[in-house]
Formats: sequence, structure tokens, C-alpha cells
Amino acid sequence: MQKNLKIMETPFVYGRIAIFENYTNREKESLLLKNNFLSLINTVIISPRRWGKTSLVNKVSETLKKEHHKEVIVCNLDIFNCRTEEQFYKAYSNAILKASLSTWEKFIIGSKKYLGRFAPSVSFSDTTQTYELSFGIDLKEPHLSFDEILDLPQTIAKDTGKKLIVCIDEFQNINEYPDSLAFQRTLRAHWQTHDKVCYCLFGSKRHLLMDIFNAYNMPFYKFGDILFLQKINREDWVKFISERFAATGKQISDELSGQIADTMQNHPYYTQQYSQQVWLRTENECTEEVLHTALLSLIDQLSLLFTNIIDSLSTKQINFLVAIISGETSFSSADVLKKYDLGTSANIKNLKKATLEKDLIDILPHNKIVLQDPAFEYWLKNYYMNSAKM
Ligand SMILES: Nc1ncnc2c1ncn2[C@@H]1O[C@H](COP(=O)(O)OP(=O)(O)OP(=O)(O)O)[C@@H](O)[C@H]1O
Ligand SMILES: [Mg+2]
Repeated sequence: MQKNLKIMETPFVYGRIAIFENYTNREKESLLLKNNFLSLINTVIISPRRWGKTSLVNKVSETLKKEHHKEVIVCNLDIFNCRTEEQFYKAYSNAILKASLSTWEKFIIGSKKYLGRFAPSVSFSDTTQTYELSFGIDLKEPHLSFDEILDLPQTIAKDTGKKLIVCIDEFQNINEYPDSLAFQRTLRAHWQTHDKVCYCLFGSKRHLLMDIFNAYNMPFYKFGDILFLQKINREDWVKFISERFAATGKQISDELSGQIADTMQNHPYYTQQYSQQVWLRTENECTEEVLHTALLSLIDQLSLLFTNIIDSLSTKQINFLVAIISGETSFSSADVLKKYDLGTSANIKNLKKATLEKDLIDILPHNKIVLQDPAFEYWLKNYYMNSAKM
């Protein structure tokens, strides 16, 4: 039985972690991740942006915290704001201590016990009712090692007799640290000795993560299982969308739900966003007309963003995107180079690299190139290419 929602509650969510009734499917991936966590197998999750990595890890973490709290401690950490090694160490130790030590008092005792050498201090914020560990570390000091910090999960696992699962979101950020390679080597050297801990590393820059985990000369090569997260499939979206409508006393046919998923190419974020726009405009029963106006309005909202993307690209980069969405595959052939004005065949490599680094395209198996963002693709096809008369 679906829980009935209060009328003003929106049944779809985007831009936030999808939880509870806003979450669908991912049964297979959830099971795999849960089993990996319990068997302490390191896992790397890679997908294009906004396909649901954070939501998936969050869901599995919450399940384990509920069902297996006697055996495991799950620590979730997002290092998006950590721009240096020093900030990483602070965020890492804070997150691990907080996940492992349930009260403020224990947190203070634990920080002294485990990290005493760094003279830690704990501050408490009255406004947010949170506490924070801080310590001064000088990375320039040549002989200072951070072994205690890096080995903190293993030490706590031994002390508590529990397994520790450390999930680090936006992990690709470590690539930006000064002397990142040396840092990656240090992390790997420590983490691979931890036999009571597993690491789940993921993030939103697919190409950077591929560089870290899939390049054989990099420290994190073969660190663990790599899970290439897929989109959620059409049938699951159809079921999900009609259930969410029904939960709020509205109706949508399977055909129209399917059209929403098709238009957004089953992209998790956009399928939810488009569904939300359709739901807002549906009084009782959704119609084709509603689907149409909702899409216009959605694309309209996004068009400024898309115009900015276009403004940041060179003409040849734009032409390259147009060639992709026009269904071309042999970009280096003389015909295609000429038709889309892509320059020389040697230039194709640069175009791929530049658009990949901007997270605009994705290179699938067998070198199939697709645009990452289905709404951007729709806008390019139906607005940009029309107005540019391409
Ligand atoms: N299992 C799911 N069921 C329904 N919607 C989902 C699911 N997973 C993700 N979504 C939708 O996709 C959006 C993005 O999810 P999430 O933030 O987890 O993705 P991400 O891959 O971590 O993104 P980023 O690469 O930007 O970090 C969510 O806000 C939600 O709208
Ligand atoms: Mg994320």
C-alpha cells in the first residue's frame, strides 16, 4: 500500500539524495554493494553525473546501520570541500570518529586517545548542536607522518571488534591536491593493509575517476571492484512514476510515464525533474498536452544554463557535439570532417578530450560517444540547431 502524501508534498525529488518513496529499484546494485561491504571488498562506483551514486551509497549505508549495527560501523564522508591534504585529514578523522563514537564525551576521549600526537581540540557549536575536531598539522614538516590518521579506521575496528566501512564521495577531488600522486600512493599503501576495513570510493567526474582507478600506472589501479552504475530502466520508471502520481491522488497512464522516461533517456535526475513538472501541471489525470507544456517549461528553465555552456565552447567543439547527436560515428572520415567543419582528423582526439573533461560527453564501450545530458541534447536538437539552421 502506498502511503498517502499530504497534498503539498512533492512526490518527486531531484538535486537531493533520493530516499524512501523517492527512491526506486537498484535492487541488484544495492545487494552487490551490501555484500561487498559485509565481505570487506573495496568498491569504486563510477557513472556520469546525477545517475544516483550518492543516493545508492546512502541507501545501502542506512540499511547496514539499521540491520547490521552490531557488526559494522559505516562512515560516510564527502570531500567536495577538501582542497588540500590537510583538509582531507581533518575531514577524514572527524567523520571516522563521529561515526564510531556515539557521544560528545566519547568523541573527546577518542580524539585524545587516537590522535593525541596532533594535540586535537574539540569545539562545540551551540547553533548547529554539532561538534568538530580540529588540530594543527603542518604538511611542510618533513618528518611528520600521518599514520595514525590514515590507520584510524583499522585501529577503531580492532578496538571495537566491528568492521568499518568508509564511503568517500567526490573522491576525484584528491586529483587536484598538490603532489596528488604521492598522496594517492600514501593512501593506497595504508589502506591496503587494513583487513578490517573496506573503502567505497566514488564521485561525480567520471573521467577523473577512470584516471585514478583504471590506469594501470596509477596507485589505485585494481584497488577493488569497479561498479559502473547504469541508468534506471524504463519499466521501473513507469511503475515509479505512476505510483508517485497515485500516492497523491493523481493519475498517469503507463504510456505517458514511459514517454517521460524516453524523453529524458531514463536519466535519473531529469526523469524525476520532468515528472515533477508534469505532476505540478496535472489536475487529476495527466494528458499528452500536459507532457508537452511541462517539457517546454523545463527546457525554458534550463536554456540559460545551456546557452552558457555553448558560450564556453569553441566552434569546433560545438560542431563536434552536433555531429554526435546527428548520429555520426566515423568522426575522422573526410565526409564527416567536412560536413561538420571539425578541422583535421588529428583534431578529433582534442575535441574528444576537451568535451570529456567538461563532462559533456561519455565514451561507452566500443568507442560509442554520447552526450551526457539528455536535456542539453534535446535543447541542442530542437532549439539550438534549429535556430542555427544546421
Ligand atoms: N534510485 C533512484 N530512484 C529514483 N531517483 C533517483 C535514484 N537515484 C538517483 N535518483 C535521482 O537522481 C538525482 C541525482 O542522484 P544522486 O545525487 O544520488 O546522483 P550522483 O550520481 O551522486 O550525482 P553527482 O554525480 O552529481 O554526484 C536524485 O536527486 C534523484 O532525483
Ligand atoms: Mg553524488
